[in-house]
Amino acid sequence: MSERILTTKDGSTTLYSEKFDQYYHNPNGAASESIYVFFEQSGLFESLNNTDSLTILEIGFGTGLNFLLLADHLKKNNIDTQVKFYSIEAFPIDKQTASNINFKDHISDPEIKNSLPVIFDSLKPGMNLIKPFDNLNIELNLFYGFFDDFIEADISADFIFHDAFSPEVNEELWTVTTFEKLAKLSHKETMLTTYCAASGARAAMSTAGWYLAKTRGALGKREMTVASQAEEKLRNFKRLNESRLIERYKKGDFD
Ligand SMILES: C[S@@+](CC[C@H](N)C(=O)[O-])C[C@H]1O[C@@H](n2cnc3c(N)ncnc32)[C@H](O)[C@@H]1O
Repeated sequence: MSERILTTKDGSTTLYSEKFDQYYHNPNGAASESIYVFFEQSGLFESLNNTDSLTILEIGFGTGLNFLLLADHLKKNNIDTQVKFYSIEAFPIDKQTASNINFKDHISDPEIKNSLPVIFDSLKPGMNLIKPFDNLNIELNLFYGFFDDFIEADISADFIFHDAFSPEVNEELWTVTTFEKLAKLSHKETMLTTYCAASGARAAMSTAGWYLAKTRGALGKREMTVASQAEEKLRNFKRLNESRLIERYKKGDFD
């Protein structure tokens, strides 16, 4: 079944999920919000200039927007950093929907722009290693399945893009167990970012051992969340009170 497509205010398209009763992205600008939340606030753009290789773990591949934006950034800026991009997706879109998605000027390279139908056409349940671009040092490890079934013992992500639907409709991806698992799939210096600012989600993160900070949200949203297991990584942000959130979680304020 094809999903309904919407053009967001920055010209890039997003989808509406009937299953989750929610848009995949912010209707005020799909590409703009992705770049702000996952690339700028996480420090990823800076890191790409200072390292030879890095690993990214994304929760929810969705329309592949984050992956394509990153590939396009590498190409445009001649960046040779080796990027391993892991992403998890339980409900991949069909090839027809993929071919109707258009991120417009936000993706400048024609090969990258047109790569989505090929990615979705070849997916098999479990892990799919895809190298869609011959001249780019980025590989996609796309797990077709549920986050709970994702077992990759040897991943140590430097950046986590937590890009699930909101906690009200996608509860299982915002639990303490989820954030404990993400801690195991990463290391002390990992930066986790999400557009979400819900107290219940933040309480789950802090109970799982993540330090937290908040910053201005994208496109008029008041706040988003930045997390790390190393407090010093959050020094440029306004910190949140983890002890208070843990206390509220234990009291059952978010049950
Ligand atoms: C907000 S969308 C992701 C947007 C995406 N990052 C993009 O750039 O287009 C959330 C995605 O998470 C997927 N999802 C929801 N629950 C899941 C689960 N338990 N395991 C794996 N994927 C899940 C949904 O199917 C959806 O594609």
